[in-house]
Amino acid sequence: MTTVPAGAISKRDNVVVFDTTMRDGEQSPGASMSLEEKLELAKILEEMGVDVIEAGFPIASNGDFEAVRQIAELITESTVCGLARAAAGDIDRCAEAVRRAKRGRIHTFISTSPVHMKYKLQMEPDAVLEAITRSVSHARNLVGDVEWSAEDATRTERDFLKRCVEAAIKAGATTINLPDTVGYSYPSEYGELFRDVITSVPGADKAIFSAHCHNDLGLAVANSIAAIEGGARQVEVAINGIGERAGNAALEEIVMALRVRGDHLPYGTSVDPVHITRASRYVSAITGFPVQFNKAIVGKNAFAHESGIHQDGMLKNAETYEIMKPEDVGQGATNLVMGKHSGRHAFREKLKALGYELGQNALNDAFGRFKELADKKKHVFDDDIVALVDDALARGSEKIRVSRLRVVAGTDGQSAELTLDIDGVPSTAEATGDGPVDAVFNAIHKIVPHSAALRLFQVHAVTEGTDAQAQVQVDPVRQACRPAVAVRTHARFEGGSSRIAERRGV
Ligand code: KIV
Ligand code: ZN
Repeated sequence: MTTVPAGAISKRDNVVVFDTTMRDGEQSPGASMSLEEKLELAKILEEMGVDVIEAGFPIASNGDFEAVRQIAELITESTVCGLARAAAGDIDRCAEAVRRAKRGRIHTFISTSPVHMKYKLQMEPDAVLEAITRSVSHARNLVGDVEWSAEDATRTERDFLKRCVEAAIKAGATTINLPDTVGYSYPSEYGELFRDVITSVPGADKAIFSAHCHNDLGLAVANSIAAIEGGARQVEVAINGIGERAGNAALEEIVMALRVRGDHLPYGTSVDPVHITRASRYVSAITGFPVQFNKAIVGKNAFAHESGIHQDGMLKNAETYEIMKPEDVGQGATNLVMGKHSGRHAFREKLKALGYELGQNALNDAFGRFKELADKKKHVFDDDIVALVDDALARGSEKIRVSRLRVVAGTDGQSAELTLDIDGVPSTAEATGDGPVDAVFNAIHKIVPHSAALRLFQVHAVTEGTDAQAQVQVDPVRQACRPAVAVRTHARFEGGSSRIAERRGV
């Protein structure tokens, strides 16, 4: 295998990894994350070696502001960044959120393409140029690290884009981002854009150029790599490739492409890929977005071999059909079979192999529930254990817990008996409904009156077999100006133990 070790690549060719899972990623419809989940994710990203964590858009909501502020206080190794439009109020709020960061960054942006300037901003190009100088200078007066983005750069008239970039650098921007906002570009075109701008804009050597690619044509990763070849030294990425519409370039794919094809792509990152699988599973668990089975690097089938010919080759030498090792990205290599006779030590080792290091309390909790599961289930697969642990981690934010649920669904009607523990106090209700889900929601409504309406209900089996564990995502819509409950629920319906992991805005 030709994987190039990270240490063999000179500093000059290091690519800054800028993770936007919590900002652009959270902009995917239905992907909202709670404050506690964001804090946990920030720790995983920092441990992984991500250079810049874009933690939110502080002016967008108090929740986003608080997430950026608390992450800025918590994280010491990575730069913590907030997004701001080219307006003083946005930039001030962002500066306030990153104020306590050891390394803080303001990321300010404005659209530069004709279609965005005319219809979205309703501004003339000269006014946009002035706004760039004003906003970047204002941000630079507040922090030393300022990124400026030309939204819709790939559909921007080239000479105007160059004038904008020059103005941003003159005003003090230290990173210049040229996003393919609508996922319209293709690799050779996007690479050439960077080559041209970097070689012709006066002062370009004073800034790091950044690629931010959307996946509308499935080209986000290829475009980002072409940008690196064209001179970009920062890539804006998201775990599992989540983000607006078809998503952003996937962190795990770019990091591994640079490592595995170091022979042709001699660029390093500071990301330790062994944390990739854990980060991917955590993001999937907290957003409720399943990872497609054949997803590169992190999909369940990414290292699975089904055909006899492939299996035979693999048994003779793994390099016959694998270009990287599953252990490199934190997928357990050996499959220790876990069951009811397994002890705490084996369980801890298993967790380590799966990329988890739990504190004593979380370990005890997960081990107790593993034993309960092993009593009920003949085979406890790795995915069962991952589901158990993700569930335990998500418990930190739990306010309402389902302690008992009995649903009757038959041709003569549907009903539910439900007991919820609210802040530890049990409360029981019975209700009927048009189907079992409706009956459960009517019972919830009796215990916790609210005005939420159900927008999404989906169940994904996360392990194998007819006795599989499933993750249930319930995504109610909040009604304006009225109290709401349960923005997202992850529940495990297995042997009657379901739970509501999170309640917000009550
Ligand atoms: O896609 C985009 O252009 C963005 C900017 C705000 C950087 O997300
Ligand atoms: Zn974007």
